[in-house]
Amino acid sequence: MSDPMPSIPEILALGPVMPVIVIDDAAQAVPLAHALLAGGIRTIEITLRTPAALEAVRLVATDCPDITVGAGTVNNAALAKQARDAGAAFAVSPGTTASVINGCADAGLPLLPGAATVSEMMELQDAGFSAMKFFPANAAGGISFIKALASPLPGIIFCPTGGITQDSAPDWLALSNIACVGGSWVASQPAIAAGAFDDITARARAAAAL
Ligand code: 3PG
Repeated sequence: MSDPMPSIPEILALGPVMPVIVIDDAAQAVPLAHALLAGGIRTIEITLRTPAALEAVRLVATDCPDITVGAGTVNNAALAKQARDAGAAFAVSPGTTASVINGCADAGLPLLPGAATVSEMMELQDAGFSAMKFFPANAAGGISFIKALASPLPGIIFCPTGGITQDSAPDWLALSNIACVGGSWVASQPAIAAGAFDDITARARAAAAL
């Protein structure tokens, strides 16, 4: 019997940093996943922004069972189904629409829904979501914005992404309503394209130690 699909809070608890991946060549997906695993990363978001992305999700889901792979940039119901069919364990969206929510529900795909305003967060909470992506984190208000939400929006935990770095991550992670942070700095698109996997492992190790 296969393991039950982990919940979003369980996935966010896998580590302090969830690398956000933009990948151009699916053949690099498994070496990339191994490089991240070697550094202690246990979950990643592969954004569906490149033609190679779905195949990359499929390869990591099939060949790297020790890493929990999600599909990012799931902006509509069709992408939710494609992500699920590729083997994604969860979906991430930059913002949230009924199409995304219903598409993920129909696909049986746990969703980390994006939100950037208090009203969006309240609507998501009403819809049953307790964990959200705060995007674009720096541009939408940064650390002071999320810090101010802990009291009026108890029970919501966030994974902020957008402009976060190794240096700024500790300040985010210090907040009580931050579950983990996401970002591309661990494995950037150019670093992946260059096959700089030793460098990616070093960055992964530093991120996992936060
Ligand atoms: C994204 O969706 O691209 C993430 O927010 C990553 O943002 P970053 O490249 O600023 O880390």
